[in-house]
Amino acid sequence: MTVTGPLDVAAIRADFPILSRTVRNGKPLVYLDSGATSQKPAAVLTAEREYYERHNAAAHRGTHLLGEEATEIYEGARGCVAAFVGAASPDEIVFTKNATEAINLVAFGLTGSLGPGDEILITEIEHHANLVPWQRLALRTGATLRWFRALPDGRLDVDPSLVTGRTKIVAVTGQSNVTGVIPPVAEIARLAHEAGALVLVDGAQSVPHHPVDVTALGADFLAFSGHKMLGPLGLGVLWGRSDRLDALPPFLTGGSMIEVVRMEETTFLPPPARFEPGVPPVAQAAGLAAAIDYLTALGMDNVAAHEESLTAHALDALQAIPGVRIIGPDTTKDRGGAVAFGVAGVHPHDVGQVLDELGVAVRTGHHCAWPLHRALGCQASTRASFYIYNTHDEIEALADAVRYAKQFFGV
Ligand code: ALA
Repeated sequence: MTVTGPLDVAAIRADFPILSRTVRNGKPLVYLDSGATSQKPAAVLTAEREYYERHNAAAHRGTHLLGEEATEIYEGARGCVAAFVGAASPDEIVFTKNATEAINLVAFGLTGSLGPGDEILITEIEHHANLVPWQRLALRTGATLRWFRALPDGRLDVDPSLVTGRTKIVAVTGQSNVTGVIPPVAEIARLAHEAGALVLVDGAQSVPHHPVDVTALGADFLAFSGHKMLGPLGLGVLWGRSDRLDALPPFLTGGSMIEVVRMEETTFLPPPARFEPGVPPVAQAAGLAAAIDYLTALGMDNVAAHEESLTAHALDALQAIPGVRIIGPDTTKDRGGAVAFGVAGVHPHDVGQVLDELGVAVRTGHHCAWPLHRALGCQASTRASFYIYNTHDEIEALADAVRYAKQFFGV
């Protein structure tokens, strides 16, 4: 399927079996929670199923045909991911369980490189996955944790004075999972590199939604999750510049990642094998490759343009409702398709519950970004997040449901 120009959303929706089901007494499903996990097209489900029906074996082991096929599928998926993000080589792609594990892999790997007097620089707008691992690294090493603060609209106050010769690593999100804010990652990477620091980008919310090229990004590491970009659960990715990966010790250890094992000691394979102990998740990798083929056929520029038009519509429709406050920027400039909001006088969980009764699936709470919520003056929010299969009618359904929630709670 090759599509040029705007997305053919009706055709896309027909590819996603789950979108034809109904919820809550026969209501059409309005799925606005792709920031949490995306739905899967039939091509991804078929790739996983075919793998189990025809090729299932433990990759990188054994000499039989199925083992060879499983290895080819797994390594083929690595090549597919590498091409999708513009990696110099498939060896720069490490498969992990999810983006969280990818970030932990780097944070643990840096343990021996940091000490008292060194600084780790993060931001106040991070998901806990790109915050807690750095707190723990600071605790293990005696390094100091610093952060760029959130501005009142959720954007980042990129204070260059925080980047100094003491800064050893800068970790920043590619797109906030709450406000959709897209920080100036290339500028942050330039500041960090001038100071001699490494840069990790949490791409869990950016890679699925915009064209990403690791060279243009200027980072040393990029972590993302397959399940937020149409792929299966259980597979994440760490891209690392080859010299940066080479310099990292193993994180998890076991079979498949070793050179020589003696009772006294072990030597390790070069990346990516060094970071992939255990039987690899080949079915998930086959699914992710199918997801990437699907997104590539749509064109990531078209994906981004579609989401921008949905986001503009949602911002207008929600802001037209008295008492609704957008948590984050109120325009589409440098922001992606996650729209968090509050409804005056109604708790976000109550808003979510009423929306759910109407078939509108959103996320409520602090969205694993508690410090950001605190900085923006709220404990929780309701978040709608969009993807390729969402329609403008669904944005209207969201606004109607929010109006109904207000009425229901008498505010
Ligand atoms: N990180 C995911 C979200 O924002 C789970 O919902």
